[in-house]
Amino acid sequence: MSASRGAEISPDRIADVVTSLAAEELAIQDGFLTPAASRELVSCIRERGELAPARVGGPGAARRSTEIRGDSVCWIEAPLLAAEERLLARLEELRLALNRTLQLGLFDLELHYACYPAGAGYARHVDQPRGRERRCVSLVVYLNETWACGAGGELRIAEPSGGHRDIEPIAGRLVCFMSAGREHEVLPARRERLSISGWYSTRA
Ligand code: OGA
Ligand code: MN
Repeated sequence: MSASRGAEISPDRIADVVTSLAAEELAIQDGFLTPAASRELVSCIRERGELAPARVGGPGAARRSTEIRGDSVCWIEAPLLAAEERLLARLEELRLALNRTLQLGLFDLELHYACYPAGAGYARHVDQPRGRERRCVSLVVYLNETWACGAGGELRIAEPSGGHRDIEPIAGRLVCFMSAGREHEVLPARRERLSISGWYSTRA
């Protein structure tokens, strides 16, 4: 088991994410999770049970608005399941590499599962709502095996030069981007869409 676990972690792969984030404020890495790791995380969602309908609006004003976002979420918090511990260990390596190379001063990581039922999306937004300005790097890891071309559900992210880019939510793929000012949305999909969203934050 330790051999396969070791195979999931490669310093070069982490370095590629850092390089791409530095150059383009965006990194996309396929195979960040092995198919087995991705499946284990899907099982973790089932094991954790109930997901809560995501709400919009700042602290004290949170409300459900499926027009804006139709996903349900479950925060990844202690006690962690084994597959979650392995994911967090890798994301900790990424945090350290980002701090070492880009001096971002990233201090902590919030992480949640997100489940979008068929037809649900998340309207254009920036990942720094009121009270969350310390978010510095956004990340998403996708858990959708056998995602068919044409199923929708792309992450549509604005390009700094104008226009946008659509990224399919295929299992094992990691997307990272600098949170500040980077508008993006989740297009509705024809099937259930599973992912993990996270944000590295600086200290207050
Ligand atoms: C988010 C988000 C993008 C995606 O959770 O804030 O923008 O592709 N997710 O799931
Ligand atoms: Mn977002």
